[in-house]
Amino acid sequence: MAESHPQSLLDALRPRLAAVAELDAGALEAEQIAVLGRKSGALTALLRSLATLPPEERRAVGAAANELRQAFEAAFVARSDALVSDAATATVAQRDLTMPGRRRWVGAEHPVTKVVDEICEIFHGLGFNRAVGPEAETEWMNFGALNFPADHPAMDMHDTFYLDVGGDARPGDGKAVLLRTHTSPVQIRTMMEGPPPYRVVIPGVVYRKDPFDPSHAPVFAQIEGLAVDEGISFVDLKGTLLHFARQFFSTSTKVRFRPSFFPFTEPSAEMDVSCDLCGGSGCSACKGTGWMEILGCGMVHPKVLENCGVDAERYTGFAFGMGPQRIAMQRYGIPDIRLLYEGDMRFLDQMGRAR
Ligand code: DAH
Repeated sequence: MAESHPQSLLDALRPRLAAVAELDAGALEAEQIAVLGRKSGALTALLRSLATLPPEERRAVGAAANELRQAFEAAFVARSDALVSDAATATVAQRDLTMPGRRRWVGAEHPVTKVVDEICEIFHGLGFNRAVGPEAETEWMNFGALNFPADHPAMDMHDTFYLDVGGDARPGDGKAVLLRTHTSPVQIRTMMEGPPPYRVVIPGVVYRKDPFDPSHAPVFAQIEGLAVDEGISFVDLKGTLLHFARQFFSTSTKVRFRPSFFPFTEPSAEMDVSCDLCGGSGCSACKGTGWMEILGCGMVHPKVLENCGVDAERYTGFAFGMGPQRIAMQRYGIPDIRLLYEGDMRFLDQMGRAR
């Protein structure tokens, strides 16, 4: 066969050299193996067989075969380079450079976190530090020390999540453990830590057996405040809370205090702020009243000070408690409290862009 004769093998390979420039990636690889493969490449085999040829033929065929090998090697490299650069050009051509960039989702603070931080910052400016306390509390901390009478309805099983922690503690005996129903027990913990003065704001979540509906949730946020020192009066309470309202809402915000009742304060009040949205003339946000209730407050009851070992003859103080979720709902016009819990990215994304 022609194949067996070195010269005719060279003649057969030569036309394949020109064809290399047309091969695709797969065919190129196959041709490299077929021609120059170490085990079974045709040219490799020919070069190996040179030794068996008679000397004069060996020289001529050897020179031609080496020349052809170099030519194939160069052609393979050239074709491979060309295929790589063709592929790169094709990818760029497929890109639509006029397409708008895809916006990355940038994480944002939850509106409630934002409101809590802002409120704490305002009080920080008045010398209040942040304090926190546990969410599982004893009945004494949550109710008893705060001067709740033993039969107060807030302690009812229907209103409060009692925890079964073993032992013989029973709801109503002061030792029972429950999910705190307000952040007020952290007032007690603060005062039991050391002597006055105290100026703290206490953000945290609290738990009540409430339904999950547009205006209630069984888990919600509160911010508690406590200031105790010598000579603190109701004037300090009013001045502090008015300053807060004007910082948080607007410089023209008005406040009003309505008498109220809490077992741990005396006297007690609810504070309303003039409606941010209508400026006090009445709108749907303030149900036509021009006012929005934002917090409960009062002068710390002497019994509470005494329960914490604070001399109620020497020290007086005020306390307040507010719901930052309701405040966030008012500020951002959020109609349903459940939106604050659902983690819906469309809502959070919109909130992330709000002030
Ligand atoms: N603890 C009260 C509640 O959860 C809120 C409150 C009212 C806290 C008056 C206070 C206060 O510190 O003085 O309803």
